[in-house]
Amino acid sequence: MVSERSAAVPVGAEVLVASNRGPVSYGLTEDGTLTAKRGGGGLVSGLSAIGPETNAVWVCAALGDGDREAVRRTGGALEPGDTGGQRVRMLDIPAEVHAAAYNGIANSVLWFVHHMLYQTPLEPVFDAGFRAQWASYEAYNRAFAQALADEAAEGAAVLVQDYHLSLVPGMLRALRPDVRIAHFSHTPWAPPEYFRMLPDDIAEQLLRGMLGADRLGFLTHRWANAFRACCAEVTGGTESTRIGVHGLGADAGFLRERSQRADVQERMAALREQIGTGPDGTARKTVVRVDRTELSKNIVRGLLAYRELLAGHPSWHGRVVHVAFAYPSRQDLAVYREYTAQVGRLAEEINAVYGTESWRPVVLHVKDDFARSLAAYRLADVALVNPIRDGMNLVAKEIPVVSDQGCALVLSREAGAHEELGKDALTVNPYDVSDTARVLHEALTMAAGERGERTARLAAAATALPPAQWFLEQLQALRAL
Ligand code: G6P
Repeated sequence: MVSERSAAVPVGAEVLVASNRGPVSYGLTEDGTLTAKRGGGGLVSGLSAIGPETNAVWVCAALGDGDREAVRRTGGALEPGDTGGQRVRMLDIPAEVHAAAYNGIANSVLWFVHHMLYQTPLEPVFDAGFRAQWASYEAYNRAFAQALADEAAEGAAVLVQDYHLSLVPGMLRALRPDVRIAHFSHTPWAPPEYFRMLPDDIAEQLLRGMLGADRLGFLTHRWANAFRACCAEVTGGTESTRIGVHGLGADAGFLRERSQRADVQERMAALREQIGTGPDGTARKTVVRVDRTELSKNIVRGLLAYRELLAGHPSWHGRVVHVAFAYPSRQDLAVYREYTAQVGRLAEEINAVYGTESWRPVVLHVKDDFARSLAAYRLADVALVNPIRDGMNLVAKEIPVVSDQGCALVLSREAGAHEELGKDALTVNPYDVSDTARVLHEALTMAAGERGERTARLAAAATALPPAQWFLEQLQALRAL
């Protein structure tokens, strides 16, 4: 007899992707209506590149109430209509377990370690509370490992993403020795002396969890080397795990098409209005930044550098505008809320000190709007990308691709993108505010010809490994082992 359940269960997947945030999220209105919102990014285009003939599934976590309701209604296998046809299995991990794992460990410990964000005289503190959260991180990783083990066909390829799921490779290996496992880090990796702030047993468990993979991927050689150095000190080496570098690039086709649409044109007109014209009647120059309001993005020092530019060069008064987009991120964490407030205060302060009736020196937008981001990309004279540490930074790669008139890129040497773009960017030390101000001036005065030539070379370097190819390259390397 064929039960209803086994008839509905699809055959095991040949390709599996696992990530905390999935390709779709659900909003829940008061009358109980669910609305699906699809995201973009490298994994989405990567998975669509393998084609519908491959049986693939994406395993992700329910993040909010809408997601949990969608899981309750579907049993976790989301409606293909909501996912663009992609098979997605969403896991309803208990909300308190997810919160401790995601906010407590992934975003407050692992993110801080890899981006070196601690103010070390007072933090981190690894106490009993930390141990309790760590148990949740283990449980959350185990839920993913179990779901992947359930979904995978014999010998399937499993591609696990990021620091949320560091323990999954080792756990899955124990459950399913037959599958091939890759893990990719979208963040930097900490150098050993910083990584070893973690309690010794946790540091070892993390590395051994990752080394459960057949293959580990990183965005740059620098992060791959840091991982090797941590293993050399903590586990005695990387054992039989292969390590590869795949520098995710921008999706030129998508960006060029999307940035020419009418909604982007409308946003450009509105932005031009806000930017205004200088005393000579020509459009003011723009220094553009687009970020999540993320501690590692260094938005505050960016504003301080812009203030120093205005202080040191009165000739720029009335002739330049800093267009800063800082979109909400991780607002469950108090330190992110405080940082967001500080960005707002500093922008206001600069406007209060330098602004005039006809000139607003900083135009700050905090509401996420992709079309407006593209509009700012197109009209930027200077792009400011100054993170204190960043796995890659795709904004640095996207701006040169869609820029209308060429754009001078001021780029932190601590961004992963610097490994590929450093030659044609203007490099800054992200902590050196005065030097950043000096480089902003240099960027604003760069001759149009040079700006255009550099932008063309930046765009070529930025699109060398588009998302679909980035994904396929890793899949092939895993299958070739
Ligand atoms: C980084 C991480 C991603 C994460 C993204 C947004 O790029 O590497 O894994 O999804 O930030 O952060 P969020 O916490 O909102 O998912």
